[in-house]
Amino acid sequence: MRLYINVDHVATVRQARRTDEPDPLQAAALCEKAGADGITMHLREDRRHIQDDDVLGMAQSVTTALNLELAAVPDIVTMATEIKPHHTTIVPERREEITTEGGLDLGVGGKPEPRLLDAIATLSDAGILISLFIDPDLPTIERAAELGVPAVELHTGDYANSYLESDAALERLRQAATHAEAAGLAVHAGHGLTYRNVQPVAAIPEVEELNIGHSIISHSITVGIEAAVREMRSLVDSAC
Ligand code: PXP
Repeated sequence: MRLYINVDHVATVRQARRTDEPDPLQAAALCEKAGADGITMHLREDRRHIQDDDVLGMAQSVTTALNLELAAVPDIVTMATEIKPHHTTIVPERREEITTEGGLDLGVGGKPEPRLLDAIATLSDAGILISLFIDPDLPTIERAAELGVPAVELHTGDYANSYLESDAALERLRQAATHAEAAGLAVHAGHGLTYRNVQPVAAIPEVEELNIGHSIISHSITVGIEAAVREMRSLVDSAC
């Protein structure tokens, strides 16, 4: 199981004062030292946390692998083709949302949005691996496979919001993971995963990558980022 740490919220703290600390690049280096397999960052259109310079700097400094999350908007897609991250995760973006609240609309029952098709074509032509962030929904998985991308990231937000009351969302994730692998897709998962809820998702055999941000960065305020990453690493590893 690969563990990617999303460092967006290091930048959230910095942007609260528009200063130069804390530094997401320094945090990423410590995550790598503590056993992260990769670093994830989301350059949002509104630049609320990660800035263009963070992406440029991270592309130079990451020694593991960089997963750049981006919406299917031409200027950010072009930037991705220039910095060539190890992979990109295409996500939906709505300006008013607090975080990425649902998976991508792949136009099931109709046609995918042209700008999504353009983004997939541009990134593929640049030789960059693409993962689509989608809800754990079987028709959406089939559409992702038809689009020819190598991977999907299953949105674990519903699971994170409901796991204390019911196993239904976990069961949906399990079925989605099996379906995605059978369709030839690599399976990633993320959103809302915490120290308390990560293990059942890490135990899904088809899931090969987790992307976790807010919980680890939050915990790092009290225990330090290396300890926070090590703790998550050990929970994930012991669940697999
Ligand atoms: N995966 C994707 C595609 C995301 O958009 C996010 C949030 O930026 C995450 C994972 C990480 O979510 P969280 O911060 O809740 O761990």
